[in-house]
Amino acid sequence: MKIKTIHVFLLLSVLYLLYSLNIYLKPLQVKEVTTVNKFDMTEGRLVWQKYNCQACHQLYHLGGYLGPDLTNVYSKYNGNADVIKGFVKAGIRQMPSFNLSTEEERLLIEFLKETDASGSSDMRNYKVLPNGMIEQDGKK
Ligand code: HEC
Repeated sequence: MKIKTIHVFLLLSVLYLLYSLNIYLKPLQVKEVTTVNKFDMTEGRLVWQKYNCQACHQLYHLGGYLGPDLTNVYSKYNGNADVIKGFVKAGIRQMPSFNLSTEEERLLIEFLKETDASGSSDMRNYKVLPNGMIEQDGKK
């Protein structure tokens, strides 16, 4: 049988439909946000702004680049708020120490906790090669 344009068109249409179906049937990958107090979280955001953490740190890779991305810092330390409070209180290398009130500390932690629950800063990991180029390094 001779392959005609219409056959190619029909084949591509069917493939397109199957592919679309496949995409729409996949469940959305959204992290479960647990018991977060929205009010505290918003107030925590104001603490974050007040002390200008964004000048050196990124959330979702946006912000200053002197310090590391803090999107997932809460789970990095397994939800141990004292470790994070310790960094803020004591400072570390180029990071100055901050004298937050106990309430400000609590709100800031709520904010970082919610941010962590909302997703990952970057799903990809990169390996720096000896020639300075980067290569994607599997999944996180
Ligand atoms: C002047 C720049 C600067 C500011 C402002 C700053 N930091 Fe940092 N921070 C740093 C640097 C640099 C590091 C990493 C130090 C190192 O390990 O070399 C760091 C590290 C941290 C860490 C540890 C991260 C980890 O992955 O171990 C936390 C948590 C942190 N900062 C929180 C904060 C918070 C909260 C604020 C705002 C109250 C803040 N920082 C403001 C520069 C800053």
